[in-house]
Amino acid sequence: MNGELKIFSGSANPALAADICRRMRTKLGSCLIDRFSDGELRIKINENVRGTDTFIVQPTFAPADNILELLMLIDAARRASARRITAVIPYFGYSRQERKDQPRVPISAKLVANLIATAGADRVLTLDLHAEAIQGFFDIPVDHLYAMPVIIRHIKRLGLRDLVVVAPDTGGANRARAFAKRLGANIPLAFIDKRRPMANQVEVLNVVGDVAGRHCLIVDDIMDTGRTLTKVAEILKRNGARDVYASATHPMLSGGAVECLNGSCIKQLVVTDTIPLGPEKRLPSIVVLSIAKLLADAIVRIHSERSVSSLFL
Ligand code: R5P
Repeated sequence: MNGELKIFSGSANPALAADICRRMRTKLGSCLIDRFSDGELRIKINENVRGTDTFIVQPTFAPADNILELLMLIDAARRASARRITAVIPYFGYSRQERKDQPRVPISAKLVANLIATAGADRVLTLDLHAEAIQGFFDIPVDHLYAMPVIIRHIKRLGLRDLVVVAPDTGGANRARAFAKRLGANIPLAFIDKRRPMANQVEVLNVVGDVAGRHCLIVDDIMDTGRTLTKVAEILKRNGARDVYASATHPMLSGGAVECLNGSCIKQLVVTDTIPLGPEKRLPSIVVLSIAKLLADAIVRIHSERSVSSLFL
């Protein structure tokens, strides 16, 4: 596309934005993200963006100010006559209410998608949406990347034999199938019968599939309280699994997740850097993989109007 490429970052994950720029050998654009005395956000883009192809990097995990920052940066770029604005959202938050499965609940994923488009984004670049259908909540183009190639490279290096890929719930079945297919021709699958009696509570009832004597890799998109992965790991062990590995693209690790993980039988938890992990969350059993190169490659391709589908492999 015509127009200089510029990258800006909100304050949610500046280290990731800096890493993306480093890999692209480009400089992060300058912007001010400040607050008024009452806590309200105050934003300013500090350089000319007229006619540019502008990318704004901001994962939108809680608090909701992260979303507001993104919206305000998009608005600022639009009013400053950027030619095209891409919201780069490594983790698309508020995505876990993505359908009306009970009376009187919002579809927050659709609401946030509307806000992003209304603010003036022309495109979205995101990674491992909680549900594929969320792409369709946007009426602007969405490039949806997967962390799977990055995670699989790491898992292959571990050289695990007799591996079984485990979906921690029915919603994760397709993801687990895709992992198994790419990990090797004869890698079997197992599924967990998981229920949520209420938000943040997890009941793990049954393992469907044979895990006895095998190494297990549980694959999930999000680790929040850690209950899903740790309870699934426990039932796998009770069913005779050897070592249990787990991957979750987006590590919130909220509530008692760190304690949960500390006392768990998960040998290694593989996450990415879509959400920064504070030092208190950096346990020896956690491996953080960078998705900066994947996002940098996608930005370069989007800017030069080339396909991004080769990045899915
Ligand atoms: C659920 O549908 C998601 O894929 C994750 O399994 C869930 O968000 C993990 O949450 P927690 O770590 O709190 O169990």
